[in-house]
Amino acid sequence: LLSAFQPKLFTGKRMLITAGPTQETIDPVRVITNHSSGKMGYSLARAAIEMGAEVTLVSGPVALQAPAGANTIHVTSAQEMLAAVEAHLKDQDIFISVAAVADYRPIQVSQHKIKKNTAPLTLTLEATPDILATIASRDDAPFCVGFAAESENMLQYAEEKRRRKRLPLIAANIASEALGRDQSSLVLLDDEGIHPLPQAPKLTLARGLLQHVAAMLDKSQAA
Ligand code: CTP
Ligand code: CA
Repeated sequence: LLSAFQPKLFTGKRMLITAGPTQETIDPVRVITNHSSGKMGYSLARAAIEMGAEVTLVSGPVALQAPAGANTIHVTSAQEMLAAVEAHLKDQDIFISVAAVADYRPIQVSQHKIKKNTAPLTLTLEATPDILATIASRDDAPFCVGFAAESENMLQYAEEKRRRKRLPLIAANIASEALGRDQSSLVLLDDEGIHPLPQAPKLTLARGLLQHVAAMLDKSQAA
């Protein structure tokens, strides 16, 4: 196994990772959700463990096996994901928010199944909490890393998100090239500029991203 050869850059470090989609209930049989296989977040959890980190993985509903060695917590909604992240935030060194959180949820959850008819149906939605922005704005925030899946203007939108959420680092990709795939590419954006990680399996991208995080933490400790 290659894992034996990963440099143990995160020995003694605690890392919290969110992964997968969230689901927001409409009625007993229907949900609002996002496309997300969870592969990128689970690959990051696996790579972090290989590199010596103690990993807590907060996962939305995915069809993947929990990574060996991670403390995996399963959640469904954005609200539950935020609560699980907050409950496990103490003593975390790094938070990587990979989850494709549903941005809106129905204001009212219907107790019973909404019966269909041919007329258009209007649902009123409210914003869900922004988990990453909430954590990154805390006084005791760990080193926070975001993801940005964009369909256009990737670098501009990702950099705007990085600044708006006050993140030292964000990883951007084009949604159609990443979602559900085993391979992808990433562009890392930080205060120094942009760092492309070329097309590769998600586990390889995860290792590259974590090496970049380790280098940034090293630098901030030296300063
Ligand atoms: N994120 C989050 N909670 C949310 C929405 C997003 O924690 N309710 C996190 C994602 O995990 C990701 C980052 O914020 O790390 C950016 O998510 P993205 O959906 O690309 O950006 P949004 O800020 O939601 O903006 P938009 O969807 O309009 O592009
Ligand atoms: Ca969003």
